[in-house]
Amino acid sequence: MSFPKGFNWGGAIAANQYEGAWLEDGKQPNVTDVLVGIMSRDPGIKWNEETKKYEMCLNPKKAYLSHTAVDGYHRYKEDLKLMAGMGFNCFRTSFAWGRIFPNGDEDQPNEAGLKFYDDMLDTMNELGMKPCITLSHYETPLHLITEYGGWSNPKLIGFWKNYVTTVFKRYAGKVELYLTFNEVNAMFRMPLVAGGVLTIKDPKDPSDPIGSTTEQDKWDAYHNILVANAETVKLCHELDPNAKIGCMMTSSAVATYAYDCNPKNVIAAMEAQRMNVFYMSDPMCLGIIPTYLKKVWKAAGVTCEFTEDELKLIKENTVDVYTFSYYRSTTYDLGTNLKVDTGGTSGKENPFLVDKAPKPWGWAVDPEGLRYTCNILNDRYHKPMYIVENGVGLDENLDENGTIDDAFRAHYIEEHIKNVHAAIEDGCDVRGYYYWGPIDVVSAGTGEMKKRYGFVYVDRFNDGHGTLERKIKKSYNRYKEIIESNGEVLL
Ligand code: BG6
Repeated sequence: MSFPKGFNWGGAIAANQYEGAWLEDGKQPNVTDVLVGIMSRDPGIKWNEETKKYEMCLNPKKAYLSHTAVDGYHRYKEDLKLMAGMGFNCFRTSFAWGRIFPNGDEDQPNEAGLKFYDDMLDTMNELGMKPCITLSHYETPLHLITEYGGWSNPKLIGFWKNYVTTVFKRYAGKVELYLTFNEVNAMFRMPLVAGGVLTIKDPKDPSDPIGSTTEQDKWDAYHNILVANAETVKLCHELDPNAKIGCMMTSSAVATYAYDCNPKNVIAAMEAQRMNVFYMSDPMCLGIIPTYLKKVWKAAGVTCEFTEDELKLIKENTVDVYTFSYYRSTTYDLGTNLKVDTGGTSGKENPFLVDKAPKPWGWAVDPEGLRYTCNILNDRYHKPMYIVENGVGLDENLDENGTIDDAFRAHYIEEHIKNVHAAIEDGCDVRGYYYWGPIDVVSAGTGEMKKRYGFVYVDRFNDGHGTLERKIKKSYNRYKEIIESNGEVLL
């Protein structure tokens, strides 16, 4: 028994965590360039009392590792060869919006940025890896945020359409799968990066830009993003009909288990699923705005009204496929505050789970939660699914033999992949598995190099030093065996 023929086996990274070259060949800063870790509440921007605007102001005491990252901008050819060496038939990365439209509001694109991605896509295709491209992986150009307030401003829809139209035309025929906004359903947990939104008109405390972003601006951003998402689907179908387009949802919170059978916990767990995932994925996949949001808007004292034309656009332009990340499950207990980070939400420890990723991050490991998630999503959306992120971050150093024996990572993927297969046996239409971070990159959540996900090690450290040399870890060969056998070695 193996996986279906043509199953996508690959890995996923993002431009802002991999490329570096943050100001090279015309690129301007994006939102992640001013943050050390997207969970940070302290972005490198400051309020200018004269202009009444925020402007970039990096903290000299902080190491913004993403500015150089792992130098993928100059090394992607050798890295992609290493990926192909594992047998990948697909590979996911993002386009840095700001390489193509540096400030985001230009009429004409930056040819150097377009050329860079031409070469990268050609390299992937030559190596037999079908490209999967995230159109923005937390990569809203900073200028759009400081000048326009980001996605709360409907002008962003026009700038975005200009960007995606350029992309779909330029790369027509070269990309198998496009994803719109990475983990955009995390926008209420991380409004600045995931929602690309900032209150710029009379912020209540300019020294706390994130805390000063109003609920109304966040819901306006939700509104505009849903319109932009539908416009993107439409444009993709018109301009590159052979490509498929998906949403990209962090879906760990689909596996929100009530901690016990107390009906109050069951209802609260359902609400957590809704407000962490479905409030965003239902519009993108079913073309409807969930009815429970009216109650949410009333409680928040905000308005969120869609015109008839917008509702029609959203209804008629749902995504082709559901694409998502899954890292861990969560329990819900009314007395426990849900903690949030890039892996999703987490409540009380689940006593039934056997494994836990090692400290300091210690994320729960729940491979069956992935099977559960696939089934819930299959029953809800009836769409092909791709797991475009799943992986484990470990604090690792080379041993005396100059290698890393990352047995825990091998175990992690084995168990998750077995459960993907179980989900397929259950009847779920899962088409691909993309391991997150097949090469060490800068951690999104913490901004560190220390949190490594790779099958390939990169010599770079938290203080920024390192040769950037690449070395294969032991798990590299295990993933290769799994792929070579189309999963059969596990079944
Ligand atoms: C996802 C993001 O939330 O989690 C990735 O899409 C990120 O960008 C991944 O790297 C893992 O999170 P972290 O914080 O461990 O890098």
